[in-house]
Amino acid sequence: MGYRTAYLTILAHLFFVVILWGQQSGSIPQVEALLQKMTLEEKIGQLNLLTPGGGVATGAVVSKNVEVKIKAGQVGGIFGVAGPERVRMAQKLAVENTRLKIPLLIGSDVIHGYKTTYPLPLGLSCSWDMELIQQAARMAATEATADGIMWNFSPMVDIARDPRWGRIAEGAGEDPYLGSKIVEAMVKGYQGENLSAPNTMLACVKHVALYGAPEAGRDYHSVDMGKVKMFNQYLPPYKAAIDAGVSSAMTSFNDIDGIPASGNKWLLTDLLRKRWGFDGFVVSDYTSVNEMIAHGLGDLQEVSVLALKAGLDMDMVGEGFLTTFKKSVEEGKVTEEEITNACRRVLEAKYISGLLDDPYRYSDKERPKKDILTKENRKLARKLATRSFVLLKNHDEILPLKKDAKIALVGPLVDNQNNMLGTWAPTGETKLAITILEGFKSVAPKAIITYAKGANISDDPEFAKKVNVFGERITIDERSPEIMLQEAVEVAKSSDVVVAVIGEATEMSGEAASRTDISIPESQKKLIRALVATNKPVALVLMSGRPLTIPEEFGMPVAILQVWHPGVEAGNAIADVVFGDYNPSGKLTTTWPRSVGQIPIYHSAKNTGRPAPENKFQKFKSNYLDSENTPLIPFGHGLSYTSFEYTDLKLNKSEISQGESIQATVTLKNTGNFDGEEVVQLYLQDMVRTITPPKRQLKGFKKVILKKGESKQVSITLSANDLKFYNSNLEFVSEPGEFKIYVGTDSNATLSVSFTLK
Ligand code: BGC
Repeated sequence: MGYRTAYLTILAHLFFVVILWGQQSGSIPQVEALLQKMTLEEKIGQLNLLTPGGGVATGAVVSKNVEVKIKAGQVGGIFGVAGPERVRMAQKLAVENTRLKIPLLIGSDVIHGYKTTYPLPLGLSCSWDMELIQQAARMAATEATADGIMWNFSPMVDIARDPRWGRIAEGAGEDPYLGSKIVEAMVKGYQGENLSAPNTMLACVKHVALYGAPEAGRDYHSVDMGKVKMFNQYLPPYKAAIDAGVSSAMTSFNDIDGIPASGNKWLLTDLLRKRWGFDGFVVSDYTSVNEMIAHGLGDLQEVSVLALKAGLDMDMVGEGFLTTFKKSVEEGKVTEEEITNACRRVLEAKYISGLLDDPYRYSDKERPKKDILTKENRKLARKLATRSFVLLKNHDEILPLKKDAKIALVGPLVDNQNNMLGTWAPTGETKLAITILEGFKSVAPKAIITYAKGANISDDPEFAKKVNVFGERITIDERSPEIMLQEAVEVAKSSDVVVAVIGEATEMSGEAASRTDISIPESQKKLIRALVATNKPVALVLMSGRPLTIPEEFGMPVAILQVWHPGVEAGNAIADVVFGDYNPSGKLTTTWPRSVGQIPIYHSAKNTGRPAPENKFQKFKSNYLDSENTPLIPFGHGLSYTSFEYTDLKLNKSEISQGESIQATVTLKNTGNFDGEEVVQLYLQDMVRTITPPKRQLKGFKKVILKKGESKQVSITLSANDLKFYNSNLEFVSEPGEFKIYVGTDSNATLSVSFTLK
């Protein structure tokens, strides 16, 4: 680095230090001046977050009550309102009617794209591509801010090892290392370099904490977890979001050690603020303060006091803060100072996002047509979808298909716009989605394609009713299942190859969508069996928001391409991969169980004192009478149309001291017939330590492109921190001794090498 560059770098650093220092809680003069002028009621008003109806409001900008409350200075933010004009109207209500003219925060759930919906977060995580994930978040922020929204209730970073839990769809899977990297990319993508720029938005890490570990996989259920497991396995992604500078955090619905997150002082103050140094604001989840009444902790006044004292700043929808705090101050149950502190943090967010200088910063009516659903955005959504697909198996190299093949395109999800976007896409529009039928016709215009629905997603009308809450997701056909099946079989028989698009409707996963049976519904299983019985080559395109139990289908002589719910470009992206325009490279970020009985199942489980012998039952060992221990499909798995060979794993040192890093290098060769991408994965085993170690843990990965026949040396560096863990005293330490490194194509990687930490 030249003298001049070094000088500029130091200056740039100083600049950021000054900016960050300037943004630290309690040090923004504009906010402090405002606080000086505010009455107790005005401060309480800032802690109130309302929604005039949820989703995108289609009628008046806000419902009557919300409007009245905004004018009365009783609202700090709203969500469920979009569009620059409507947002401008809402801001005007606040700015022109209240004494101190404080604008509103406008929030939304932009979970996987705003209008240009891209794959579910769980799908996107399978790309293992941090640059691409950051780009996705950037696009979402650009679109959302163009529509007036400057606060995003994302990223959701709850580690989930129980696919019964429907919200596994919204996170990055089971692994804290990968989850942390993904979260960092998302926060950077949403927040950009400068939060007051009109195309960046405040991110909100959620749901703090442990929401992904409810008992029995049932949504909102209790969580019971020891601190060592919490710190090592479940908390790292929340911390990573904070380290990446996330501006806000949302509490979870569950309790932790008997205290719901929204009233949990250990969580919100001791851990988040004191230990992790978080200085953004904390918002409750939807009515989660009030829900502490049902949890059994007291009446609305009591639970609101509990929440504030725990460190919660903003109350979502429940209005417990709004309606009880004045009384609580009068009765000495909370102090005005405690309310001021919460208010300060909300105002600081408004300052950081530039609202205090210009309430209409996000209300430019020219922006939507320039920034939303552009050609480039749809192109990116298509690319993101192709990167999220995981080729689970490819019997006889059925895939990719020839573009002039005679194809039977069969299944309830083939010609079905309603199920392409996936759960939690409240700002997306199903009518914009490309169906599989359309995608196939446009990517392979010379193919002869015959379509048959073949089956209902489910034949059960009661089940369909529960799933169809946001619109028709499961349509039960007027024809009988037998007639549909017969039609599909005939279509299959007269084609060269069958592509069956089957799986879950979008609302079969997501919030309050837990399942005890996570197999493909029986109606579709029958269809798959009948198609395979025709002896035609069959490719299953499997859609779902979670890992499914598919031992029967996985055992069939078929190809299986897992596509999650791919978003607005679904059909095009699926056709790109099915016809080989893109060679799939996705890798699972969750373990796929053989049966629900194995759950929770994850790659970083411990050895136990009685490890089972491989593939063999042994009495008094840790195994099952009726199942193998191994999953059906391991974490990290994903095939390509080409094949890769790993050889010659080496380390640059055989011994290191505390604080040093170490580098592993492997030779990777593309040994197949296609150019392709591979995610090289590194797993670490700590051989001996003072608390029981996992069998192996993901500690590094690299996505590499290789031409067919090409070889590359791929190096991955383990930092000193990668060898650390939280011990019984919750100190983050590494302990001397032997470590083993495994490198390969999935979590079963066998190529290994050892080193010693002195
Ligand atoms: C969800 C949150 C979401 C909030 C606001 C809740 O039901 O748990 O993830 O951000 O609603 O829409």
